[in-house]
Amino acid sequence: MKPNDVVLILDFGSQYTQLIARRVRECRVRSEIVGPSITADEIRARGPRAIILSGGPDSVYREGAPQLSPGVLDLGLPLLGICYGLHLIARDLGGRIERAKEREYGHADVEIDTSATLFHGLSAVEPTWMSHGDHVVELPPGARAMASTANAPFAAFELPERRIYAIQFHPEVAHTAHGTRVLENFLYELAGCHGDWTTGNFIAQEMDALRARLKDDHVLCGISGGVDSAVAALLLHQAIGDRLHCLFVDNGLLRKDEARLVMEAFEHRFHVPVRSVDASREFLGALDGITDPEEKRKTVGRVFIDVFEREAKALKVAGRLRYLAQGTLYPDVIESSPVRGPSAVIKSHHNVGGLPARMNLEIVEPLRWLFKDEVRRAGAELGLSEDFVQRHPFPGPGLAVRCVGAITERRLATLREADHIFISELRSAGLYHQVAQAFAALLPVKSVGVMGDERTYQEACVLRSVDTSDFMTATWSRLPPDFLARVASRIVNEVDGINRVLYDVTSKPPSTIEWE
Ligand code: XMP
Repeated sequence: MKPNDVVLILDFGSQYTQLIARRVRECRVRSEIVGPSITADEIRARGPRAIILSGGPDSVYREGAPQLSPGVLDLGLPLLGICYGLHLIARDLGGRIERAKEREYGHADVEIDTSATLFHGLSAVEPTWMSHGDHVVELPPGARAMASTANAPFAAFELPERRIYAIQFHPEVAHTAHGTRVLENFLYELAGCHGDWTTGNFIAQEMDALRARLKDDHVLCGISGGVDSAVAALLLHQAIGDRLHCLFVDNGLLRKDEARLVMEAFEHRFHVPVRSVDASREFLGALDGITDPEEKRKTVGRVFIDVFEREAKALKVAGRLRYLAQGTLYPDVIESSPVRGPSAVIKSHHNVGGLPARMNLEIVEPLRWLFKDEVRRAGAELGLSEDFVQRHPFPGPGLAVRCVGAITERRLATLREADHIFISELRSAGLYHQVAQAFAALLPVKSVGVMGDERTYQEACVLRSVDTSDFMTATWSRLPPDFLARVASRIVNEVDGINRVLYDVTSKPPSTIEWE
């Protein structure tokens, strides 16, 4: 199968770099994010069809600010610089940048030369999104201005014979009304991309790559019930059939009916055999008496590795296993971008990081090139139901981090019922797919209530629902008061152990989505 065009995005640290990558993919062109210090030779070796330079928070003149490697502008490849990318091009080619008197942040109307190919199909004045402190005061020799704003006299310029284009505004941000058109003009008209990166294409290519790499080897895949591991398993199953061995560990921290539904889905709908292990006693035993959130997370992670390793060894094919499949997604792969550096550990995420080394397995990551929305599309293409692929995410440590305080079977059962009522009501009100993630958490706080003629003294449950696209920041969902009233009333009436229901109205930051 013919490889797709690739566009390399050099990441200068913009908060929008991933968005650029996604927008390019929405134009059906494969995009890959690379560090800013990539050399001209390394770029040539990867054979991209075009290059995009992202924005970034720095000033090109600051000592230590990320720079373009020598020769990148001379590669002869179509190149689009955005914001900081524009500054780099302007400065490196002999223009001049200055700190603007006023930082331009937010909406800006840009006057545009619509005869420029990059701006085909746009209006003479376009609403755009800007975020910069520096601006170009003198163009590089030979450059032609294509746009201006009240604050930035050269809001875009081109050197068409060198195939270099630069814009001050952000085409990837939705506030730039015709940003996608600008990207399409660059990708199709200026760079000659074919626009043939589709989910079907990806699956076919990935299947070929997996078969070529895995040859006759056996692969172990942990199933969590989530979308990522399900898609990874289906992809692998189609590629290597019964040489894939799936293991599902029920840790006793799943939502109501979850374990049963996962097994049914794999066996009856996807026809992928899965070995299921009920390890709930082991997990709950290890968690007994632990209330500290970090300790809960670490305990779940540790027990998971123990159980997984032991059960994998018990598989008939254990001696022949060579690979461990992981559902790593593209954002995890690029988070190691050198510009961003290590971010503070807010919560230690449960993952299977220690496993491959201990078990002497190599890792295979069939989804490492995909963003979440692409994984969902791939899942749908592979036969997963829309309902399954659109499910809200669920954290690895499961209900352990939603059962605030001590974890007991009884409290978990209470939490499961409350969560189930909330989620079913969201579904019947048609709200489930409108919010990004919703769940109930049980609080170790008792308060007084009255049921009939009786005084009650029971715990409180909090409902959490957030709107977000990346889960890094989130706002609380403005759910209708009548809806919340119905959920609260059902929970208090139907769930034993809860006599008060709260709704969480904090955003992330400063709160996180999960309670622990
Ligand atoms: P926070 O609570 O950090 O959560 O705002 C952000 C998103 O990540 C999910 N989450 C996890 N997912 N393992 C996971 O796979 C974990 O340990 C974990 N902790 C939080 C959370 O549900 C939300 O979607």
